[in-house]
Amino acid sequence: MIEYRSLRVGLLGCGSVGSQVARLLLEHGEELAQRIGARIELVGIAVRDVTASRDAELPTELFTTDARDLILRSDIVIELMGGIEPARSLVLAAIASGADVVTGNKALLAQHGPELFAAAEQVGAQLSYEAAVGGAIPIIRPLRESLAGDRVERILGVVNGTTNYILDRMDTTGASLGDALAAATALGYAEADPTADIGGYDAAQKAAILASIAFHTSVPVDAVYREGITEVTSAQIESAKRAGYVVKLLAICERLTDPVTGQEGVSARVYPALVARGHPLAAVHGANNAVFVEAAAAGPLMFYGAGAGGVQTASAVLGDLVAIARRHVIGGPGTAESIRAELPMFPIGRIRTRYSISFDVADEPGVLATVAQFFAQHRVSVEQLQQTVSEETGRATLVIGTHEAEESALADTTAALAASSVVTSSVSVLRIEGAVS
Ligand code: NDP
Ligand code: HSE
Repeated sequence: MIEYRSLRVGLLGCGSVGSQVARLLLEHGEELAQRIGARIELVGIAVRDVTASRDAELPTELFTTDARDLILRSDIVIELMGGIEPARSLVLAAIASGADVVTGNKALLAQHGPELFAAAEQVGAQLSYEAAVGGAIPIIRPLRESLAGDRVERILGVVNGTTNYILDRMDTTGASLGDALAAATALGYAEADPTADIGGYDAAQKAAILASIAFHTSVPVDAVYREGITEVTSAQIESAKRAGYVVKLLAICERLTDPVTGQEGVSARVYPALVARGHPLAAVHGANNAVFVEAAAAGPLMFYGAGAGGVQTASAVLGDLVAIARRHVIGGPGTAESIRAELPMFPIGRIRTRYSISFDVADEPGVLATVAQFFAQHRVSVEQLQQTVSEETGRATLVIGTHEAEESALADTTAALAASSVVTSSVSVLRIEGAVS
C-alpha cells in the first residue's frame, strides 16, 4: 500500500450537503487518495449543535462548535454553512490562515465575492465554488477554464429548481401557482419560507455569479434586475402553450453593445419568460436545472442536471476539493479569478427583447384601433395578435406578441394601455427569450 502524505480538511457545516461531503470523504478516502496523490484527512466538522442528528453516520469525535480552531488545523476549509455571517468572516479567516477554500454559498459569493477573491489573490489561496450554481452541474469550471479563451455572448439559465418544478407542474397539470407551490413544499423542494425561490432572489444570486465569471466583470447581486414568478397565472401558461411556448424563470446574462457609442456592457436579469417549446431549455422538467451558454467560437452549449440535493451537490464540492488538493501535491498557483474587463452594467430599460402582452378589452368597434395606436406611438412593432372572447362573460382577452423592442418603450406602451379606458384589466407582460443569435 502506498503511503501518502495527508492534507487536513476542515468542514464548516453538516447539513444536507455537508453531511454527504463528510460521508463520501470517509467512504471513498482510499480512491480519492489515489486520484490526488495525497490522503484527505477530515480533521473536524464545525456545527452549531454537536448533539443534533445528521443525515449520515459520522464519528461524533469530529464534531465541534469551534470553527476558528478547526480552521487553524486545516489545509483546506470547506464552507457549507450558508448565509452571510459567520460564513464570510470564517472564509476570510481561513484564507488569512493560509488555507484554500471550497464553498457552495451563492448568497455569500453574490454579495461579497470581490472581497473574498481579493483576499484569496493577495495570499495566493484558491477559492472554488462549483456547487454555488446549478448544484451538481459542472458550470463554474467550464466558464472559468474551458471557455476562458472564448467570448461568452449570452447565458440563459434555469437555475432554480423550486420555481422550475412549480412552473412545470402548472404547465403539465394546469395547476394554479398556489397548488403547485404546495406540491413543491410537500416534496421538500420549497423552503417553509419560499420567498428566496419564488421571488427570484436565489436565481439573481446565481445570475450575478455566472455573469461575473462569463464576462470577467464583477457583477454585484444588486445590479441584477429581478422579477419572481408570483404574478404568473394559469391563464398565461395556457396562452403560452397555445402559442407554442413554455414559461421558465430565466437567469439571463448578456454581453451587449450600445448602438450609439459602441460601448460594450453587460446585462444580468431574472424574470419569468416565454421559451419556444423547441428550445433545449423547454425540455428542463421538474426541479432540474440547465444552463444554456452561447459563445462566439464554441456556439451553443447546454449544461443540464440536478441543481440541488445533498449528495448531488456534494459531488461538485468534492470535485473542487480534489482539484485543490492536486495543486497542493503538484505545487504552483491555481486558477486565479479573472475579473479584469469591468464592463458597465446596462440598466433594464436599455434591454431589447420580444414581449407577449395580455389584457382584457371591451369587445366594441374601434377598440383594436385604439390599442394599436399605443403601440405605434411608442414605436413598438406588433408581430402577432390573438383575441379570445369568453362565451360566459363576454370578456375579450387580447394577447399581443411584439417584435424586438427596448424595455423603456415597452414600459411606456403598457403604461398607456393601463391608463386607457378601453382596457378593462391589468396589463401583464412576459418577455420572449431564447432566439438563437
Ligand atoms: P443546511 O442548512 O442543511 O446546513 C447548514 C449547516 O451549517 C448545519 O449543519 C448547521 O449546523 C451549520 N451552521 C449554520 N450556521 C452555523 C454557525 N453559525 N456555526 C456553526 N455551524 C453553523 O445547509 P445546506 O447543506 O442545504 O447548504 C449548505 C450550503 O450549500 C449553502 O450555502 C447552500 O446555499 C449551498 N447549496 C445547497 C444546496 C442544497 O441542495 N441544499 C445546493 C447548492 C448549494 P447545525 O446542523 O448544528 O444547525
Ligand atoms: N432553493 C434552490 C433551488 C436550491 O430551488 O434551486 C439550490 O440552490
